[in-house]
Amino acid sequence: MELLDGKKISNQIKEEIAAEVAKMKERGEKVPHLAAIIVGNDGASLTYVGSKVKACERIGFESTLVRMPSTTSEQELLKKIRELNNDDDIDGFIVQLPLPEQIDTQEVLMAVHPDKDVDGFHPMNFGKMALDMSTFIPATPFGILELLERYGVETQGKHTVVIGRSHIVGRPMSILMGRKGFPGNSTVTLTHSRTKNISQITTQADIIISALGVPGFLKAEMVKDDVVIIDVGITRVPDESRERGYYITGDVDFENVSKKASYITPVPGGVGPMTIAMLLKNTLLARERHKKQN
Ligand code: GUN
Repeated sequence: MELLDGKKISNQIKEEIAAEVAKMKERGEKVPHLAAIIVGNDGASLTYVGSKVKACERIGFESTLVRMPSTTSEQELLKKIRELNNDDDIDGFIVQLPLPEQIDTQEVLMAVHPDKDVDGFHPMNFGKMALDMSTFIPATPFGILELLERYGVETQGKHTVVIGRSHIVGRPMSILMGRKGFPGNSTVTLTHSRTKNISQITTQADIIISALGVPGFLKAEMVKDDVVIIDVGITRVPDESRERGYYITGDVDFENVSKKASYITPVPGGVGPMTIAMLLKNTLLARERHKKQN
């Protein structure tokens, strides 16, 4: 069994981006500028956004964090998005999800200018991704592709089973793994909450990508020997014995599944850090495209 070490690979990617930023600075060019909007006070979301902003600072990007109260109306959020769309200093921005229930998420994602949509959530960018056109690939799926690529995990002709059909992970992942090329050329099965006999499907899988958010869901008897496991679950489990009051766990019973796997991502330290690195990569790409337009 080999660990797919997202922490290590994400640090390599961040160093590569930092080297690019250093060159930009030497040439006297503007460095990439990422903005993030967060609405409300959800602890996990605040942590994720904080990590994104901190990562920007470490590699030399500019960053702006826009905090809005949980009572923000859809109109107020759309107004802020229009401001960021029109702010020439900002190369890309994200709206952290989930949003409070008074706000229609799809309306919000459609308001982000596709050229600044470094999350790749706008229908135009999602459509381009599905049609193999150059675009921003959502950061979590992009990070998973990068891990598979850098570890040379064979995907061609393999049966990839994706668990979960979210717009952020499961759905795009199912499209990307079936694309021509590497990583890709997989035969893909997308499973979800209404799938019957999921064990019958997962035991046929060469690669399993689980994005469910149910701790310990995937058990050793549900997988075959030498399976490749990508665990996208990040769940906070309350635990008073820890200083933070919780611990982080994935969808996979790591202790037992890892004994059968050929490759497996740990949680934490697998897909999570890759997501941030790929958001930075998309922001660098947004800066390069923006520069060409001016
Ligand atoms: N919430 C959970 N994952 C993500 C992500 O990748 N981007 C945004 N904007 N919100 C999220």
